[in-house]
Amino acid sequence: MCGIVAYVGARTAHDVVLDGLRRLEYRGYDSAGIAVLDGGSVDVRRKAGALGNLEAVLEAEPLAGSTTGIGHTRWATHGAPTDGNAHPHVDCRRALAVVHNGVIENHSALRDELTNVGHVFGSQTDTEVVAHLLEEELDGPPGGEGQAAQHSSSRTPEEFAEAMRRVCRRLAGSFSLVAIHRDFPGVVVGARRNSPLVVGRGDGEAFLASDVAAFIAATRQAVEVGQDCVVLLTPQRLEITDFEGNPTRGREYRVDWDASAAEKGGYDYFMLKEIAEQPDAVAATLLGRLGRDGTLTLDESRLDTRVFVEVDKIVVVACGTAYHAGLIAKYAIEHWAGLPCEVELASEFRYRDPILDRQSLVIAISQSGETLDTLMAVQHAKEMGARVLAICNTLGATIPRESDAVLYTRAGPEIGVAATKSFLTQLVAVYLVALYLAQLRGTKYGDEVAGVVRELAAMPSKVAAVLDTMEPVRAIARELARVPTVLFIGRHVGYPVALEGALKLKELAYMHAEGFAAGELKHGPIALIEEGVPVVVVMPPPSGRSVLHAKLLANLQEIRARGARTIVVAEEGDEAVRPYSDHLVAIPAVPTLLQPLVSVVPLQVFACELAVARGNDVDRPRNLAKSVTVE
Ligand code: F6R
Repeated sequence: MCGIVAYVGARTAHDVVLDGLRRLEYRGYDSAGIAVLDGGSVDVRRKAGALGNLEAVLEAEPLAGSTTGIGHTRWATHGAPTDGNAHPHVDCRRALAVVHNGVIENHSALRDELTNVGHVFGSQTDTEVVAHLLEEELDGPPGGEGQAAQHSSSRTPEEFAEAMRRVCRRLAGSFSLVAIHRDFPGVVVGARRNSPLVVGRGDGEAFLASDVAAFIAATRQAVEVGQDCVVLLTPQRLEITDFEGNPTRGREYRVDWDASAAEKGGYDYFMLKEIAEQPDAVAATLLGRLGRDGTLTLDESRLDTRVFVEVDKIVVVACGTAYHAGLIAKYAIEHWAGLPCEVELASEFRYRDPILDRQSLVIAISQSGETLDTLMAVQHAKEMGARVLAICNTLGATIPRESDAVLYTRAGPEIGVAATKSFLTQLVAVYLVALYLAQLRGTKYGDEVAGVVRELAAMPSKVAAVLDTMEPVRAIARELARVPTVLFIGRHVGYPVALEGALKLKELAYMHAEGFAAGELKHGPIALIEEGVPVVVVMPPPSGRSVLHAKLLANLQEIRARGARTIVVAEEGDEAVRPYSDHLVAIPAVPTLLQPLVSVVPLQVFACELAVARGNDVDRPRNLAKSVTVE
């Protein structure tokens, strides 16, 4: 949720850190701060609100020209988003500064203990206990002479790393931590548990950040920091150990996108850019999946093909938009592979008693690969003996690392908080998994699988065609900018699309929006329909399962008869819906199961335009952050 960046090198640290924070701001924007080493102490600037507020403070009170610094952009958990609660946090001596992403669950007991030995807290955050715990380890209780006064020049960086290890062993919860201390110039120490941290290695400089976006302008060489590890970083040196001090190695990789991918590229919002990138993202995710002999390969999945053959049940776990991709996966897996498939919100999954065993395959879908609820569900599933396949967009993230196998989507960096291109690529990935299961289990012949893959290969141009015709959708959105509510209905795979349309509108426009299975209308929701209530109707293709179309047409007539203002997303040439549509949005003809790839696009555009018309910042919707690394 929060964004962390640390720098050691030859450049002015606060400039580099600020640049990193600009690229990480999507992770949290309640407050921001930077600390640098300034001779005998740490120098800190921090400010509530967006990064611009911190920039103004830095302008008025510039930081020293240090070459060691850390920064943070916050999504508040403990303590309101005020200047005082903004990170970095310092110890009593102002000898060290620390930034944190996650939640320290035992912070209250630790705070009591530290207060009893004289530590004075300046914030309400859980993070500040880490600053004081590190102080205890490195310099002793406040008021004492401290180690620094005794032998500051002879201190070795290992001492700093060991202090961090000792502190980590005392912490419960999830954390990425980064700290600097005045006695260790040119050294940054970090740690992580269930929260992301990645090293960037440049030429004579190094970075430690929540996400590669922070340093992509300087280097594409990255090193994953494993679970429960402490990092000691200098411009030349990288040492990773577990919390006990045993050396471990991080996985080195080269980031396969460049800084321009994480910039707006002329669009007003990242979200608009990311919506426009969807045809390419879909094409990239499909690339190289169909072998010359017409068989589907999921190269990087790492799971033995026998697992796919022997599995007797699939359980999909995910949150938010990724959960909606999971709901669509169910239709594809059950239809193509003939396997029972359950779909569960990750946050619910781990708190009930799911029935799983070695024959179960759990599919965890996550754009960021860091969503804590999904990560916990993965760990829970593995404890129960199930195999776990991750579908993820972020190379080296925690969820794929903790899973048995991974299928990467190739959407590129998604900066806008609302998921758009990642959703389409998740759909492609779940279709591929469903087809792969069908191929290996023989529920579809090879030519049938190849046929669907060919239909998928045509989707980028169909998505592009939808994007070319969105002006009327934008006009409707602007017209509806002041309505209090919008409802969405669909059937079959159109139902999760309706849920996704409503979620986009809630999170971006801050208005009441709800998605329903159209068949449920008469069981309650139809009471919401009155004169003028806008209802978005996701129509299935008329030539697919015709009964679906007929049923939804009947629902459309029912709501229209009760005064609904209908916005109907239907296949081009679907004349049956025209008499009941106040607004008709035509989408290209595609097979029923694949229709979400095109039908969701107008709903994304609708939500984005409506939110902008209401004056909202669609890249940074209130109260939200891009990756939810707390429960
Ligand atoms: C909605 C949205 C969220 C995420 C959810 C899961 O637009 O972006 O609902 O889909 O927080 O995030 P990931 O996919 O990173 O696990």
